[in-house]
Amino acid sequence: MKRILIAASVLLLSLFMFTGCTNRADNGYELDYLVLVNKLNPLPDDWEGKIKTVNFTNTVGNNVEVEKRAYDAYLKLKKDLKKEGIYVDLDSARRSIAEQQQIIEDFTEQYGADYTAKVVAKPGYSEHHTGLALDLYLIIDGVNVDENEDMMQYPEIWKVIHEKLDDYGFILRYLPDKEHITGYAYEPWHIRYVNDKEIAKEIMEKGITFEGYLGTVNETEVSIDYGKSVLYTKAELDEVFTRIKCQFASWKGVELHALRYAGDTCNNDENLAWLNSINGTNYSRIIEVFSDFHTPKDGFGTMEADHDYTDYQWWLACGEDGDWDIVSFGY
Ligand code: DAL
Ligand code: ZN
Repeated sequence: MKRILIAASVLLLSLFMFTGCTNRADNGYELDYLVLVNKLNPLPDDWEGKIKTVNFTNTVGNNVEVEKRAYDAYLKLKKDLKKEGIYVDLDSARRSIAEQQQIIEDFTEQYGADYTAKVVAKPGYSEHHTGLALDLYLIIDGVNVDENEDMMQYPEIWKVIHEKLDDYGFILRYLPDKEHITGYAYEPWHIRYVNDKEIAKEIMEKGITFEGYLGTVNETEVSIDYGKSVLYTKAELDEVFTRIKCQFASWKGVELHALRYAGDTCNNDENLAWLNSINGTNYSRIIEVFSDFHTPKDGFGTMEADHDYTDYQWWLACGEDGDWDIVSFGY
């Protein structure tokens, strides 16, 4: 096995005339409403000094803090939904670093580290720090439905909510089947304010991620070949493929086209012994995957520019924790 280890205050009038820009003036208030905060991009250092928020108490008695324009837009969305017989409130919007840390700890205790990593951002890397990310919950027949697994039981209600988001400058942030790009599992409740209905409409109509809209990733169709395996289930292979797709999503300009399971033969004692001896690990399973991709015109790292790479190899290993780690990639 070969390896490479791897703007002065502005007249109020301008507010109404000004469209399609990320920064808007509101009595001197400016904010980058298209800020990207995700697993790779932390909250900008100067954010805390810029944001203006409002606080309110939700139906379960908790204080919720929201960026002020996002809150105004949310109230309009809420009013519109009410006309449809749908009642919502906000479970959480702006969170401090300490609050995010507490969520991580609570989720880890309740659901374990693996699930927590898929649904909760690390402190500093949560879009909730911006005050522009809002977690809705449902009020059905006067009952608060605010637990994730319970909210998931109402896809038809979420569909109506999602169809109205762009009218108020919101997008759905964590889409189903895009976790390899966003880094998180589907969250029908997590909406993101972008302060621009046209941008929101474009994102929602195309069904793309915020990352895809901003051009930080290529949302290409990836062909998947599961091959034949007596060792691994389709669900396990899907987990491995998602890990690799996440890596590609962070390779700016690189278009991933295909992933193929290389077969069961890679999972042998010799490969495991070699891997554990060099890393001091205790992996018990190993997987090899081939990838085909295309590099951008201006190149990527040491790779050849504007080039089709085929059969580029990936090795992932799994230990007792059940997590698949990328241990090596290359030719
Ligand atoms: N649930 C989202 C990913 C967060 O924790 O920011
Ligand atoms: Zn959220």
